[in-house]
Amino acid sequence: MSESPIGIFDSGLGGLTAVKEMISVLPQENIIYFGDTGRVPYGNRSRETITKYANQDAAFLLSKGVKMIIAACGTVSSVVTDLKDNLPVIYTGVVLPTATAAVNATRNGKIGVIGTSATINSGSYKKEILRQNSRITVYQQDCPLFVPLVENGFSSPDDKIVQLIVEHYLKPLRDVDVDTVILGCTHYPIIAPAISRFLGRNVQLIDSGRETALYATHLLQENNMLNTSGKLGTSSYYVSDTVDDFSRLAGIFLGRNVNDSVTHIDIELQQ
Ligand code: DGL
Repeated sequence: MSESPIGIFDSGLGGLTAVKEMISVLPQENIIYFGDTGRVPYGNRSRETITKYANQDAAFLLSKGVKMIIAACGTVSSVVTDLKDNLPVIYTGVVLPTATAAVNATRNGKIGVIGTSATINSGSYKKEILRQNSRITVYQQDCPLFVPLVENGFSSPDDKIVQLIVEHYLKPLRDVDVDTVILGCTHYPIIAPAISRFLGRNVQLIDSGRETALYATHLLQENNMLNTSGKLGTSSYYVSDTVDDFSRLAGIFLGRNVNDSVTHIDIELQQ
């Protein structure tokens, strides 16, 4: 069991930011990634649709014999809160570990949360932060243009378009003096340098991929399921749209070439 892979899924490419963190925290684990590139984005869809997609994504990973499932997607983690109840393996989304890290990080008790519209409308991060500490004030902001921006290669802090959009969304958070901001979407670590330049170095950015990788380690340890084979883990990638597009863009998110390990599947066939 301990050598079985960890299944990670996302609405598309973005979850590779979490895979990158996972490989750095747990290099010995085997990883199976599913990116629903044929149906991305999830962030502006209804609860019903996101729930149906998330269940199909998890069913696909289960068919690969995974020992754990991680929803790297901020939208799925926020909207499909009962996904865990239907799974026969350990599961985590990104909300609990990321909110916990933000609660521990804030010094002035003002936390900003940014994410897709579905994530922000669900109030998931705010609820979890307030459950942990009701004295904290949470400021939420959806940033729907960040995902297309990143996917079209705009991420440099020196880029005027990036600067304008970052200012548009984040000025309200800067004005209220948040000292901690949750990057509540898979794509946001890619534009973290631009966000950080705008908010200032004193504002801590909490990366959901990083925090979830650390939390997953804790869960595996607790369940005695860490891969102790001593070998370096392998990663396989599955997508619901073309393999070529994924392989080309994956480098931006993962910082490595995945050409030989990407396979196309028909996700609609999963029950
Ligand atoms: N993966 C999504 C998230 O983290 C962003 C892309 C989408 O809207 O599907 O919320």
